Amino acid sequence: MKKITILVSGSGTNLQRIIDCIEANEIQNAKINLVVADRECFGLERAAKHQIDNVLIPRGKAFSDELDKIIPKDTDLIILAGFLSILKSDFCQKWDKKMINIHPSLLPKFGGKGMWGHHVHEAVIEAKEKESGATVHYVTSGVDEGDIILQGKVALDEKETAESLAQKIHLVEYEIFPKAINKVLNP
Ligand code: GRF
Repeated sequence: MKKITILVSGSGTNLQRIIDCIEANEIQNAKINLVVADRECFGLERAAKHQIDNVLIPRGKAFSDELDKIIPKDTDLIILAGFLSILKSDFCQKWDKKMINIHPSLLPKFGGKGMWGHHVHEAVIEAKEKESGATVHYVTSGVDEGDIILQGKVALDEKETAESLAQKIHLVEYEIFPKAINKVLNP
C-alpha cells in the first residue's frame, strides 16, 4: 500500500475526488496517511469526515520545516491539491519526484508566482486564448516548473468568465488528477 500525504488550502474538491477514487479503487494501492492545511479550510473537514488524520500548520516561513517534522517517514507521495503556500527549495529537493501538484492552466502557460485561482483564468481570458485546461506536474523549487505528468484541455467560449472557466477546468481536474496519481503510484 502506497502512502499519500495531501496538502490543501481551500475547499478541497480535488481532495474529495481523490478520497472517493481511493474508496472506489479507481486509484489503486493507495492510502491517505495525512491531510495538511496551511490555513483553516473546508479541506480539513473533508478529511475528518473520512477519519483521515489532519493537521493545520499555519502558513508562513516555518511551514516547510514544520511539515518536514510531522510528515510520516514512510510517505511515498505528497500531493498538492489546491495548496497555496510556496514550499522551501530544500524541502522540494528532498521530495524530488515524490511530490506532485495540480495547476489550472496548460503549463508552461499561465504559471508561476501569483498565478493561482481566478488570477490564472483572468489572464487566460485577457490573452484571448482559445483553450485552457489543467496540468498535473512534479513539484520542484521553481514554481509550476516541474515535469508535466498529464494535461487536460477545455475550449473557451466567447462569453467565458473567470468563474465559468474555473468550473469547466475543475471538471477536467477531476478526470486527470486520479489518472496522474495512478500513473505515478502504479507505473
Ligand atoms: C484547483 O483549481 C487547482 O488546480 C488549484 O486550486 C484549485 C483547488 O480547488 N491549484 P479545490 O480546493 O480542489 O476545489
